[in-house]
Amino acid sequence: MNDATEYFNRQAAAYAGASNRFPWSWLRTRERQSVLNVMGPLHRADVLELGCGAGYYTRVLLQEGAAGVWAVDRAEEMLRHLSGDPRITPVQGDAATVRLGRTFPVIAAFGVFEFVDAIDVLRNAAVHADPGAWLVVLFSVQSVPGMLIRWFHASHGVEARLYSLRHFEHAARTAGWQLEASRRAGLFGMAARFRRVPA
Ligand SMILES: C[S@@+](CC[C@H](N)C(=O)[O-])C[C@H]1O[C@@H](n2cnc3c(N)ncnc32)[C@H](O)[C@@H]1O
Repeated sequence: MNDATEYFNRQAAAYAGASNRFPWSWLRTRERQSVLNVMGPLHRADVLELGCGAGYYTRVLLQEGAAGVWAVDRAEEMLRHLSGDPRITPVQGDAATVRLGRTFPVIAAFGVFEFVDAIDVLRNAAVHADPGAWLVVLFSVQSVPGMLIRWFHASHGVEARLYSLRHFEHAARTAGWQLEASRRAGLFGMAARFRRVPA
């Protein structure tokens, strides 16, 4: 188990509640609005979510019309918060290497790229993509507020990565994804939608 997984296992109970309390609730609302602005319609689609955590965006995806969400996270304790909804299939696994044996019309990954090399997750997302599938992401950008996120995670012994949109887009293109829309999200983030193109 690596440092990030140990950290998120320890944080799981507090994490779910913190999303609903100020100041995180304020930040979450702004991030979510940008995610919704770039996202395509869900039309009862099955969605693969990589790095689902305690399910904040899993529930948003369902509210927005997803038929079901296959929710992958490395931290077992985070996945415990997803139990009970039959539309959610929790999967303990690594976003970069997990294999589900099927493909999806929509793939989502929010707040996981800080803890992995983005290209590895983007390549695995492509493995699980239907032809023409779209991918919606949220990642932290290189900026002064972004440095605060790095500092915050470093104070818990976890290294967090920041990206420029150009760097992220380049990694996505290499993995077979074409940028369709992007928007700054809250203080730290960037929300973006990509389309699967033949590699
Ligand atoms: C900042 S949280 C975001 C969780 C959720 N997407 C949200 O927005 O509330 C990051 C999550 O990514 C998970 N994670 C980090 N690296 C991962 C990896 N390589 N594979 C799967 N999950 C990972 C952590 O366990 C944690 O639950």
